[in-house]
Amino acid sequence: MGLTIDQFEKRIVTPELRASLFELNPNRKEYVEYLNKEWPETRYLLCEDVLVNPYDVRDFFMNAAYCTGTNDLIPDKTGAPGMQQPISNEWCQEYVQYLRDLLTKFKITRQKVTWYDFSCYTNVFWKGMKAIDSNYLPHVDPSDMAFNLFLSDDMVKEEGTAFFRMNVEGDEFNDIKLYSKHGGRVHPRVISHRMDQCRIGAGIVDDWRYFRGNDIYEPIGVIPAIFNGISAYRGSVFHTACYDPDWYPDGHARFSLVSMLALGMKSAGNGMGFKAKEPKPIHQEPVPTFFGQN
Ligand SMILES: [Fe+2]
Repeated sequence: MGLTIDQFEKRIVTPELRASLFELNPNRKEYVEYLNKEWPETRYLLCEDVLVNPYDVRDFFMNAAYCTGTNDLIPDKTGAPGMQQPISNEWCQEYVQYLRDLLTKFKITRQKVTWYDFSCYTNVFWKGMKAIDSNYLPHVDPSDMAFNLFLSDDMVKEEGTAFFRMNVEGDEFNDIKLYSKHGGRVHPRVISHRMDQCRIGAGIVDDWRYFRGNDIYEPIGVIPAIFNGISAYRGSVFHTACYDPDWYPDGHARFSLVSMLALGMKSAGNGMGFKAKEPKPIHQEPVPTFFGQN
């Protein structure tokens, strides 16, 4: 007997399964915070106690497919820290629709966002994992906004996402998109060179470590990682993951679901609580920007 239809029986992700898996906790908390109130671009969103069944969601993702060694969501951007597993939006439609609703609720963007504007993958960090080309150093995301749902229940309170500020030729900034949008005088190539300055080299492997700042990057603060919680931030602010292997015993792994929102060349957003000053003229070219820019 060859393959039978029965073998697929438990492998079908039905709307009913998703609805119960991603059921939202009615008592969840959702709020906006700042890393530094003087810099609105460091505003971020935190949601606590999001899911009713976070362990079931974790098991679902872990059993759904094998992890891959690189982030192949974006073909020319490999080398993301840890281990990634692409997740289809069709598997977690209710969850990404919830993320979309958060954008509306907190007036993060006025443009129409649909559940397929997100790209999802799980991320595994583990004690002993290696870094490649110093990817523990700060980076900016190719997408506009990152949402992290943390599904490990043993994280230390220091865990999270660390944010940084850069000083180049006398200009201080933390958000690469806003800097160029506001006519920053330092050429992007110079910024890029500065970002590469202390890298070990393409393809070279060393131990992962928790980067806390250096002559190039001044720390701003850390957005906390909370079990069954979401942290969301502008991907264009310099950032890196806080994961110090010394905090954990051998064999430890940290698991999260990352959802990247890329609005690309769609019209500009309203801002994370910002008000648009005036309507965009109809003939104006769309600008590849996100909240706070119009
Ligand atoms: Fe990132």
